[in-house]
Amino acid sequence: MSHEIVEKKAALMGVLIAIVISIGGLVEIVPLYFQSSVVQASPGVRPYSALALEGRDIYVREGCYNCHSQMVRTLKGDTDRYGHYSLAGESVYDHPFQFGSKRTGPDLARVGGRYSDEWHRIHLINPRDVVPESNMPGFPWLAENKLDGADTSGKMRVLRILGAPYSDAEIAAAEGEVKGRSELEAVIVYLQTLKYHGSVAQ
Ligand code: HEC
Repeated sequence: MSHEIVEKKAALMGVLIAIVISIGGLVEIVPLYFQSSVVQASPGVRPYSALALEGRDIYVREGCYNCHSQMVRTLKGDTDRYGHYSLAGESVYDHPFQFGSKRTGPDLARVGGRYSDEWHRIHLINPRDVVPESNMPGFPWLAENKLDGADTSGKMRVLRILGAPYSDAEIAAAEGEVKGRSELEAVIVYLQTLKYHGSVAQ
């Protein structure tokens, strides 16, 4: 009888479906907030340096994530090509994380150390100078734009509230570390930090 009422009233059924799905979702999601492998930094993971942090923000501004993921999946094809699969503990200081979902270009989670800074410099200004068949756009303005570092310590303070263990000294030194450097340098420093951070040998 009561089931008939639910079946005849679409709105009521919609609400009840939403409640059931929410419970299912919460059962899956809530335990993750308490699992140390997910919420604790993997060994060797440090918050971004002031310059890398600015580089990361430029990565977001330029929309690099539209073509690049930073998430090595647990599939053999991925681990053969990129290295150890991504661990949740590698992204605990990443707000917002840059997992991405589109791979027009390669995954970048393990790109740090794969190329020299000079390779990245040439590649970011005009990718075809080093990869002739590349269809990645060039970002030549990054070499001309200079950073003033005025907001860097503020960004670090916010990240500290979110859990990144920056020291007062690091925050105080941020502006000096960033001021006068080019956006290109910052992006390269950021890219070079994207490495495997875990306890399991690669
Ligand atoms: C329209 C898509 C597109 C955008 C946007 C894009 N890329 Fe790429 N990227 C590619 C493609 C395709 C490749 C592979 C060819 C090559 O190496 O140039 C690539 C390659 C790379 C590589 C070399 C990766 C490797 O393992 O060989 C790096 C590093 C890189 N991109 C960084 C960036 C950064 C940083 C930005 C933003 C400033 C960016 N890309 C924006 C498409 C894109």
